[in-house]
Amino acid sequence: MGRGLFILFEGCDRSGKTTQSTRLVKALNDAGIKAKLLKFPDRTTAIGKMIDGYLSQKTKLDDQAIHLLFSANRWEAMDQVRAELESGTTLVVDRYAFSGVAFSAAKRLDIKWCKAPDVGLIAPDRVYFLDIHPDDAAKRDGYGEEIYEKREMQIEVRVKFFSMMDSTWSIVDALKDPDEIHRQIMMLTKQAFKRHKESPAPIAKLWM
Ligand code: TMP
Repeated sequence: MGRGLFILFEGCDRSGKTTQSTRLVKALNDAGIKAKLLKFPDRTTAIGKMIDGYLSQKTKLDDQAIHLLFSANRWEAMDQVRAELESGTTLVVDRYAFSGVAFSAAKRLDIKWCKAPDVGLIAPDRVYFLDIHPDDAAKRDGYGEEIYEKREMQIEVRVKFFSMMDSTWSIVDALKDPDEIHRQIMMLTKQAFKRHKESPAPIAKLWM
């Protein structure tokens, strides 16, 4: 059996990543493909709890310190991620290092500095960018509860995401009907499996 695929969902806040990543995992499992959902930040670990305190505005941290905690929260999951992929499980991930860079660079931290701690993480096979304009995201339920859910910040975050895109990314219009988005993501994922079957690629490292 070959390795699983490493598929990411990225996007601004309230773009529907959680809904769509959950649906993708269920659809893959229903089709007999072993798949699991991961989410970053993983707020259940000791590092994740510090991140949660910061995001929910209970504690304050320097921009640099919170950036490194987000990265550490990914690194602490890497052994598990590699083991799952090698055992043939496809991992669908709700946010990853691109969020790390986009959000910190939007706060005017140097983009090269932002990327450095995540260099060498497992690289994604595909990235689905759920694109929504921050003005549309602001109309969605629950918006504004966390520290970064502010218009100017989200506009800058979206620009930073666009600056990092390459051929592994697909931009998906997050304003479309959720069923239609799901169908589009299923089609893209089927293509990714087909390509991987035809020419299997080893697990790669990010930004190396
Ligand atoms: P969530 O709403 O998907 O749980 O993400 C929490 C917030 O954390 C969201 O505003 C994006 C931000 N974030 C970073 O700033 N850096 C990161 O590395 C990650 C994964 C998320």
